[in-house]
Amino acid sequence: MQILSDQCKEVLKKNDQGTYTIPSSLGLYPHQWLWDSCFAAIGWSHIDSLRAQSEIDNLLINGQWENGMVPHMVFNMSPEYARDRDAWASKLSPLSPRSTATSGITQPPLLAEAIQRIGKQLHIDNRKTYFKSVLPRLIKYHEWFYAERDPRESGLVVQVHPYETGLDNTPPWMNKIRKYRHPLWIRIIEKLHMEKIVNFARRDTRELPPEQRMNNIDALLIWDNVRLLKKAHYDIDKILHLPLFFINDVSFNSILVRNNTVLREIAKEARIRLPEKLIENMRRSEKALETLWSESFDVYLSHDFMTEKPLQEPTIASLMPLYAGTIEKERADKVVAIMMNSKTFWLKHPLPSLPKNLRDFDADRYWQGPTWINMNWMLIDGLKRMGYEKEADALRSHTLELVEDNGIWEYYNPITGKGLGSPDFSWTAALTLDLLNN
Ligand code: GLC
Repeated sequence: MQILSDQCKEVLKKNDQGTYTIPSSLGLYPHQWLWDSCFAAIGWSHIDSLRAQSEIDNLLINGQWENGMVPHMVFNMSPEYARDRDAWASKLSPLSPRSTATSGITQPPLLAEAIQRIGKQLHIDNRKTYFKSVLPRLIKYHEWFYAERDPRESGLVVQVHPYETGLDNTPPWMNKIRKYRHPLWIRIIEKLHMEKIVNFARRDTRELPPEQRMNNIDALLIWDNVRLLKKAHYDIDKILHLPLFFINDVSFNSILVRNNTVLREIAKEARIRLPEKLIENMRRSEKALETLWSESFDVYLSHDFMTEKPLQEPTIASLMPLYAGTIEKERADKVVAIMMNSKTFWLKHPLPSLPKNLRDFDADRYWQGPTWINMNWMLIDGLKRMGYEKEADALRSHTLELVEDNGIWEYYNPITGKGLGSPDFSWTAALTLDLLNN
C-alpha cells in the first residue's frame, strides 16, 4: 500500500498548477472544477496543508460571485482557452468576478467538507484562524442556495444544468431532456445522422474512446442548455422561466445537507454564530430530503422541479442520503439493502453509477454505469457515520483494491475493473490517499 500511496501523491503533484489542481494531466480538463478541487484539497491535506488551503482559496477568493455562488469552473486564463471561456461568457452577469472568467452554474457543495478535513491536519490555534478566515465566504455560499435556488422555500435546492449534479449524463435527467427539451435543429441533426460533426468541437472524444463518453446528441442537448442559461445572463429569475427541464437532484441535496452540518461544526469551533435564518433553512432541508423517499423503489429519487414528481429511475444518487447522515434509520436500512444487492449495485467492483438491472446501464459509459471513486468515498464516510461499519469496510477494501490493481483512472468498469476515461485522475488519487490514511 506504500507504493499506492506514493503513486497517489505523484498524480497530485503532476496535476498541480500552483494554486489549483487540474482534474487530469491529459489536457482534457485544463481548468479548475469545484468538487474536483474539494476532493483534491482533501488529498493535499495529507501532503501539505498550506497547498490544500490554496486550492480552496482559489475557488473562494478568485471564483466566488457577488451573490455568493461558487462557480463549477474557474477558467485557466491562458489565451489558448479563450473558446472555453467564451462558451460561458461569465462577464454577461454583473455579479461574476471581474478579474477572472468562470462558468455560470455551480457544482455539488463540498467546500465545508474539504475545509473541515484540512482543519483536522492543523494545530488547534491554526485551525481556528483558518476556519475564521474562510467562514464569511463559505456562509455566503450556503446562504445563496436558499436565496436563489429554493424559490418555494421547500428546503430542496434546484439544479439548472446537468453539470451542476456532477453526474453529467445521468440517465433520469437526460431522458427527460430528450423528451421535453429537444429543439428542432438538434432533431434534424439526429435525423440526418450528422451528429459526428459534434466531434470537431469535443475535446474529450478526440482524446478518449467515444464509447466511454456521453453520446453526441446528449452533448448537443447539454450545450444547448448552456446556451440558454447564457442568454438569460445567469439571472435566476429569468432562468426559471426558460423552456428547460430542472430537477431537485437527490445527490446534490444530500451533499448540501451534509455540508450544512459540517458548516455548523466549523462555525461552532471558530465560535462564530451562523445567521438564524440560515440555521432555520438548514433544518428545513433535512426534513425535505425525506420527501424524496420512494415507497415503490425503497430508495430516494430525484424530483422534477416543476411538477415535484419523482424521476422513476434510481441511480447512485439514490444512495446518497446515506452521506447526508440525517435520514430515518428504517429507510437507511432499506437503502443499504439495495446497495448490497448483487443484481443492482453490489457488482464485482462496486458501486456502479447506475444499477445493473436498468435498461440504460452501460458498464463503460461515463455516469451510466462505471464506478467512480468520489461516490464510493462519500458513501463509505456516510455508512460509517450511520453505523454500518461492516458495509463501510467492505466498500473501502473493494475501492482500494480496484485502484491498486487497475491504476488511478477517472472511472472504472464495475464488472471487469478496467480503468476508463482519463488516466492520472486527481480525485481518484486524492481520495485513495485519504482512504489509505484512515
Ligand atoms: C466531468 C465530470 C464532473 C467533473 C468534471 C471534471 O464533467 O462529470 O463531475 O467535475 O468532469 O473532472
